[in-house]
Amino acid sequence: MIIAVDGPAASGKGTIARALARHYGVPHLDTGLLYRAVAAQVLRLDLDPAIEADAVAACDFDDTLLADPGLRDDATGQIASIVSAHPLVRAALMQRQKKFAHQPGGAVLDGRDIGTVIAPDADAKLFVRATPMIRARRRHDELKSRGSAISYDQVLADIRTRDDRDSSRSTAPLVAAEDAMELDTSFLSIDAAVSRAIALVEGRT
Ligand code: C5P
Repeated sequence: MIIAVDGPAASGKGTIARALARHYGVPHLDTGLLYRAVAAQVLRLDLDPAIEADAVAACDFDDTLLADPGLRDDATGQIASIVSAHPLVRAALMQRQKKFAHQPGGAVLDGRDIGTVIAPDADAKLFVRATPMIRARRRHDELKSRGSAISYDQVLADIRTRDDRDSSRSTAPLVAAEDAMELDTSFLSIDAAVSRAIALVEGRT
């Protein structure tokens, strides 16, 4: 069984995807980490994320980088959204995501284009939403708990910038697949959101 979980930053898609993977006993891939790893390489090698050839050069990263907690930073997310708009970067990361999705036994993947590009054949597709203010509040709490001094207003502005960039790019924009089931987590606890996600996947809507 392949489950695709898409949605904007801090919508709850990662938490839901991890819980679904645990529930069904299948592996999970947070595809945002791949783009964040490219961003981290861009920073490390002092490349220009807006230049496609630079961003492509940064796609050659060591997998150990994926475990680096620094990838979760707000600044890395912003650069990830710049590099991810380049078609050649998306192409460079596509095969490993498709392979992960189509491994025997199934998988859960979360990202922006899982249901539309990586696994259009997924057995269940969720599109997870929440209001920008609520997403900013969650992300701000998370960053603060990790010691960041960033303000709520800055986090909200960054979320809006990233939403605009991710939704307006021409290759694999952030958009719900036609057959995706929508899940708004704005006013749901984590437990309630996960229960709702399982109900949707099982067709108990
Ligand atoms: O999900 P996360 O916030 O970690 O993703 C970071 C950035 O990577 C997103 O803003 C988006 O631009 C990009 N991304 C993408 N396609 C995916 C996953 C992430 O373009 N499947």
